[in-house]
Amino acid sequence: MNDRFLRACRREPVDCTPIWLMRQAGRYMAEYRALRERYAMLELIRSPELAVEVTLQPIKRFDLDAAIIFADILPPLIGMGIDLEFAKGEGPVIHNPIRSRADVEALRVPQAAEHVPFTLEAIRLARRELDGKVPLIGFAGAPFTLASYMIEGGSSRNYLLTKGLMYDDPATWHLLMDKLARLVGDYLLAQVRAGAQAVQLFDSWAGCLSPSDYQQYVLPYTCQALAALADEDVPVIQFSTGTAGIVLGAPQLLRQVPAGVIGVDWRVDLDVAWERLGYDVAIQGNLDPVVLFAGREVVERQAADVLTRARGRPGHIFNVGHGILPGTPVDTVAALIDFVHGWRG
Ligand code: CP3
Repeated sequence: MNDRFLRACRREPVDCTPIWLMRQAGRYMAEYRALRERYAMLELIRSPELAVEVTLQPIKRFDLDAAIIFADILPPLIGMGIDLEFAKGEGPVIHNPIRSRADVEALRVPQAAEHVPFTLEAIRLARRELDGKVPLIGFAGAPFTLASYMIEGGSSRNYLLTKGLMYDDPATWHLLMDKLARLVGDYLLAQVRAGAQAVQLFDSWAGCLSPSDYQQYVLPYTCQALAALADEDVPVIQFSTGTAGIVLGAPQLLRQVPAGVIGVDWRVDLDVAWERLGYDVAIQGNLDPVVLFAGREVVERQAADVLTRARGRPGHIFNVGHGILPGTPVDTVAALIDFVHGWRG
């Protein structure tokens, strides 16, 4: 069993730096695109056999140190009453965005076994198929990032409506975030019980907030969601992007999150981030995924820079700082993985 990812999460010594890539299953792989020609996104997610096939595609193709279950952060919202569509070429669209107190009050908080049984079954099946080859990561969206999609109705640039609700109607905001924290906590716990060996919480858009707004409106709910895992012996990765201002200026906020691993993006240097966060937490990151479109020499130089900054300290998990992009050359991905495994800084 390759356990260097789990060992690094616990800051134990490893034979070489473990690497996995956010969005490692996806459109940059021909195998994935071929399946997507036959099935819609939600069909892939709702069929455990297909979800496992996609989960394993990058594991078969590359020497990765962890698998991540194929799903998405948004489908769990459907059980709350959200009408979600992955529209062609547009990304996710929510047809009934949440705008009022009554909208929030109408949201249900169902149990994962009721509303996402397919993902729990996919986790059980994937564990069986992986047969200990590499560990399996489960995941969920964090309450803030989920709230932003629910309120905006899709992706957003300025989060006008999200922040509008947050500032103008804090009581409704807190009601919404409490419901999301309960949904996410239950979902993560169900994934762990189904066999997920680590979990990552994606707070992809938390970087649009000032540190004090993050502290006041968001952090308590991230903590509430993760409290569901308090009795589980499973590594938790807290991930966000654009949060250098928090990492550098208010690292104690991120350290309040009950997670043993913190994921950072490339907008902050890994050594500076780790020094600020403290060496008693593991760190994941942080190559700019756009670097993977450059030539081999640039990729190796930039990967070496990340590894040099980690200084061989136990507790570094190599990753991109945000999901790998469609169009990324697969040969470059393979070369990056070999380079990281071969690194003896
Ligand atoms: O990492 C993995 O390989 C596991 C699968 C995974 C997906 N989405 C599959 C997916 C994970 C972990 C996610 C997380 C996710 N989804 C996030 C957080 C991470 C991040 O990138 O910030 C967010 C914000 C979403 C919401 C989402 N899903 C968007 C905005 C989009 C459309 C744009 C895009 O990036 O593709 C999706 C669709 C989606 N989720 C695809 C995949 C493979 C593409 C679907 C397709 O067209 O085939």
